Amino acid sequence: MTPAQLAAALPKAELHIHIEGSLEPELIFALAQRNGVALPYPNVEALRQAYAFTDLQSFLDIYYAGASVLLHEADFFDMAWAYLQRAHADHVVHTEIFFDPQTHTARGVDVGVVIAGLKRACERAHTEFGMTSALILCFLRHLSEEDAFATLEAALPHRAHFIGVGLDSSEVGHPPSKFSRVFARCRELGLRIVAHAGEEGPPPYIWEALNDLKAERIDHGVRSLDDPALVAELARRRTPLTVCPLSNLKLCVVTDLREHPMKKLLDAGLCATVNSDDPAYFGGYLNANFVQTVDALKLSRDDVIALARNSFEASFIDGATRAKYLARVEAVAS
Ligand code: ADE
Ligand code: ZN
Repeated sequence: MTPAQLAAALPKAELHIHIEGSLEPELIFALAQRNGVALPYPNVEALRQAYAFTDLQSFLDIYYAGASVLLHEADFFDMAWAYLQRAHADHVVHTEIFFDPQTHTARGVDVGVVIAGLKRACERAHTEFGMTSALILCFLRHLSEEDAFATLEAALPHRAHFIGVGLDSSEVGHPPSKFSRVFARCRELGLRIVAHAGEEGPPPYIWEALNDLKAERIDHGVRSLDDPALVAELARRRTPLTVCPLSNLKLCVVTDLREHPMKKLLDAGLCATVNSDDPAYFGGYLNANFVQTVDALKLSRDDVIALARNSFEASFIDGATRAKYLARVEAVAS
């Protein structure tokens, strides 16, 4: 087996997937028709042609437009179930799914409707595939901290159905420290903490995510390599980075996958993981990210096994489930 074939076959956890970013153009059009929502594109091909991004913001504008077709519980279920089936086909056995309530509540959709649909899909994946999963509520950082507090308040009746909170959307100009107080409240509530930092933003944003928000994982974090003291600290704490290679390529964070920092992150001793971010927009689900990265960077068999192990080490599963999944990695790798 080549390293790329091994990567595809290994059981893996996916820890950085925005469920709204799994909405394929065909499903966007089907839901638009079902819900009577008008789209600014005449058909699937025209929408797909608009997927030529120059940076994070150029993507986010289209991503929020796509999410406008989501109105009812069944829509959130259909979206998540489509993702979970694809993840299962890629040997994802555990997934921690981001969702953006403010994208939906701004259109009058109750956060309870969002969570109910996602949760029902996760339950079906557990029943049919034995897949474990969890939901992570993300605050949109281009909005105010006050808006994040209101979102948290609205979600609290559903507290049992999400394990943590994250921070996403337009990074530059919206540092983690903008959300210090709401994350402090989330920690009091016992929520797990993650945050996007160092995707386009500079190393000080990663320091803030660590020290101010007390993030347990950094989403992206590829720009940490610009600051050797930060790399040393991430290695010392073993703070995981949920890296998304095809996203970095499509959003022009790197110009070629052969220049992607994944190998450097691994060689620096960091707990780096591979993830798909917004697979419907960036040209591939988890195995496409693995296979293309392994080939472009000529990652070794040991690198690939480390990445699969890291995905479980970095996950928020309990110790017994982690041990079970790590044993499955060893069984396939041996
Ligand atoms: N929301 C969805 N995908 C994102 C990304 N890659 N960065 C920030 N916010 C996002
Ligand atoms: Zn992301």
